[in-house]
Amino acid sequence: MARTCLTIILAAGEGTRMRSDKPKVLHEVGGLPMISHVLRGVIEAGTDAIALVVGNGGNKVGDIASSESDKIELFKQEERLGTAHAVMAAKDALSRRYDDVLVLFGDTALITQDTLLQMRQALANGADVAAVGFQTEDPDGYGRFIVIDEQLIRIREHKEASEEELRISLCNGGIMAINGSKALELVSAIGNRNKRGEYYLTDIVEVASKQGLNVLALEASKEELLGVNTRAELALAESIWQKRARREAMQNGVTMLSPETVFLHHDTKLAPDVVLEPNVFFGRGVEVGSGSTIRAYSHLEGAKIGEGVNIGPFARLRPGSVMDSGSRAGNFVEIKNAHIHAGAKINHLTYIGDADVGSKANIGAGTITCNYDGFNKHKTIIGANVFIGSNSSLVAPVTIGDGAYVASGSVITEDVPIDALGVARGRQTNKEGHAATLRERYRGKNDSS
Ligand code: UD1
Ligand code: CA
Repeated sequence: MARTCLTIILAAGEGTRMRSDKPKVLHEVGGLPMISHVLRGVIEAGTDAIALVVGNGGNKVGDIASSESDKIELFKQEERLGTAHAVMAAKDALSRRYDDVLVLFGDTALITQDTLLQMRQALANGADVAAVGFQTEDPDGYGRFIVIDEQLIRIREHKEASEEELRISLCNGGIMAINGSKALELVSAIGNRNKRGEYYLTDIVEVASKQGLNVLALEASKEELLGVNTRAELALAESIWQKRARREAMQNGVTMLSPETVFLHHDTKLAPDVVLEPNVFFGRGVEVGSGSTIRAYSHLEGAKIGEGVNIGPFARLRPGSVMDSGSRAGNFVEIKNAHIHAGAKINHLTYIGDADVGSKANIGAGTITCNYDGFNKHKTIIGANVFIGSNSSLVAPVTIGDGAYVASGSVITEDVPIDALGVARGRQTNKEGHAATLRERYRGKNDSS
């Protein structure tokens, strides 16, 4: 029979070192709160129940977590008295005696499924406690693993370690697997508040090994076990996550000319044969269809891009942009809440907002949809095969019929019918010889001064 599993996630930290009004675990990596990363990993690896321990300000954490899964039970740790005390906040869940108990931290966002499965395997193989550590040359701030004869006998917190212990490079990643039939007793036995007035979960190792139980040290990569306590560590977690996401996109058939300069969002969807030039930024909610190219220095957010579309260089697609197949948005073009139909071209220096641009329409350089009157947004409808001459302003609400032309430099305030030519600008007059006359006059002025 399959073993049952309870995952306890500790997220009651105030995260004072982040210097933030926001609970630490709600800070984002790849645009997704750290706690959601942990929860998604746990859910994918499979668990029967999730106990989430939050602090007094944890209502928001609870709300975000509950949106990830209905398996989550919230527990409140009223006083922040350490990681063992936090586990005890979930005592009711622990006493239900699952076969496996995993304890994870909400600030260890990069934990992988592989490691979670490895932890459960250790329990299945007879370990009573298995802690996951990592090797590092820079162990500052981490607890150290004291291992003798392949048994983990103690985890010593950095603040309490001796000179000799500080030289140990195998550090505690913080996450732990505990035999579910003994977990409640073992955690309760961490009776002693230490010098800092906290109950450390790490002391479970000493408690268990003194009882002659089987306590193991597992290992995972340092990158995976990074605990985010500071903004600098948050930036490090971001860079590790970005590296992973880019690698995955490339494995799925995306070409990146300079991967390290491309920034992805956790929900970015890129089809095979998408090409990304350097310095492209993806915000929330972007999909790009196969064969499309996003050229250098483009910023995309909330945009659905079809197949064979060309974007940029230096383009900005804002939420609600829909680009159908074969359409284009060139340099210094901004698009917001607008549907650009198949084959339409918006090549240079243009703002298209709250609009519908028909198939194969051509929007000249410097065209602006004047969508906002200071109070309300209005819509511009441009038909199929329309040609908008350069430097035109389309004052919404306004409709340009299929096949119509708008003369360059027009300020269009009224609808242009199908196949009509709209001209809305001063008529040109030439005064023969007048430039020469002016020149003479001005030169005369300069001479007298
Ligand atoms: C902890 C480990 C340390 C390990 C490091 C890895 C302990 C005592 N120390 O140190 O050995 O090397 O993680 O990143 O376990 N939390 C609560 N309630 C509390 C205290 C903490 O919920 O009363 C939560 C925090 O929100 C956080 C996690 O537990 O998600 C770890 O706490 P933190 O203060 O970040 O521990 P570290 O000092 O990083
Ligand atoms: Ca931490």
